[in-house]
Amino acid sequence: MKPSAAAAHSLQYDFDLTRHNTLRLPARAQAYARFHSVSELLSLLAMADREGWPVRILGGGSNILLNGEVPGLVLSSAMTGIRLLGGDEQYQRVAVDAGCHWHDWVCRSTEFGHGLENLALIPGSVGASPVQNIGAYGTEAGDYLESLTGIQLSTRQWRTLAASECRFAYRDSVFKRELAGDFIVTRVVFRLRRQFMPDLSYGPLKAWSESTEQVTPQALIAEVCRIRSDKLPDPEVTPNAGSFFKNPIVTASVAQQLQALHPSLPVYPQASGKVKLAAGWLIEQAGWKGRWLGHVGVHDRQALVLVTDGQADYAALRQLQQAIQRSVMAQFGVALEPEPQVF
Ligand code: EPU
Repeated sequence: MKPSAAAAHSLQYDFDLTRHNTLRLPARAQAYARFHSVSELLSLLAMADREGWPVRILGGGSNILLNGEVPGLVLSSAMTGIRLLGGDEQYQRVAVDAGCHWHDWVCRSTEFGHGLENLALIPGSVGASPVQNIGAYGTEAGDYLESLTGIQLSTRQWRTLAASECRFAYRDSVFKRELAGDFIVTRVVFRLRRQFMPDLSYGPLKAWSESTEQVTPQALIAEVCRIRSDKLPDPEVTPNAGSFFKNPIVTASVAQQLQALHPSLPVYPQASGKVKLAAGWLIEQAGWKGRWLGHVGVHDRQALVLVTDGQADYAALRQLQQAIQRSVMAQFGVALEPEPQVF
């Protein structure tokens, strides 16, 4: 059977993904397509079934590690609708298509309600945001997500998951666990606060708020962008995937022992009783900040970010990742876990 006209039109074979991942790791997809409608997505999935292709979904490519040839069909959402669903006195509910650029959505979100301001300038798409429950400056996407809809690949069934079913945790969700690689998010419903109640718990934001005339949503977004641009490299200029490692979470007694040995170690007690450590601090103390191994290096202003010169491949990145993990383990006895997922 011939693929439908819409699917055939958007499909590209042997597609170069190098420009589609922010680390610029070289990779090629057997087939690639952007879908502009649900019917186009369905006809592409039907085609993948006929061809026997595995299917993967690619968002902004800012949290993945690509390794050479990608078999099957890589899909990307080009759907960017934003629709107000309604609300009550406290909240507004807004449905946002997965293909929206995350930062564009954060900027638009203030027209409807509040809560996402601290998440400005995080690279990636709305559809990818729940996967690792993106977060910054005291806020996580999952805090403002009501539900999401998409297709489970193994069953080809549409599903709507409430936030509680997404099992959000620090840089974690069901989409990195039971549903890893098995779910195409097509739409996310956010629940935004009508009232602007800024989260200024992050030290530098608190300091800024005390010295600024008026903390408006737009001013907060601008300040978050300023702080991020100051510490984190722009992936358009310097390939990177944001924080490369998660901040490790250890028991209170391990944290206490480490603090006794290293009084300047930043520690963040969690509601669970465990303690989050600053991986950037550990990596810097292990002597890696600003160091390069071939085409991959450790950012000189934030040791949690690995950067490349645009010529690196997966193997080179892995080599530096493992060297850092070994150093931090040898010096502090702490295991570091990478944040980006192998695609
Ligand atoms: N630090 C160092 N050396 C470094 C980097 C950090 O000593 O090279 C220390 C800092 O001085 C500070 C502490 O580590 O005391 C924490 O640093 P920072 O505030 O920069 O935040 P982070 O823990 O390194 C996390 C997120 C970022 C997020 C920021 C702000 C993770 C893995 N990373 O970084 O998220 O923007 O907090 O909330 O949780 C991302 O996930 O891609 C990301 C950029």
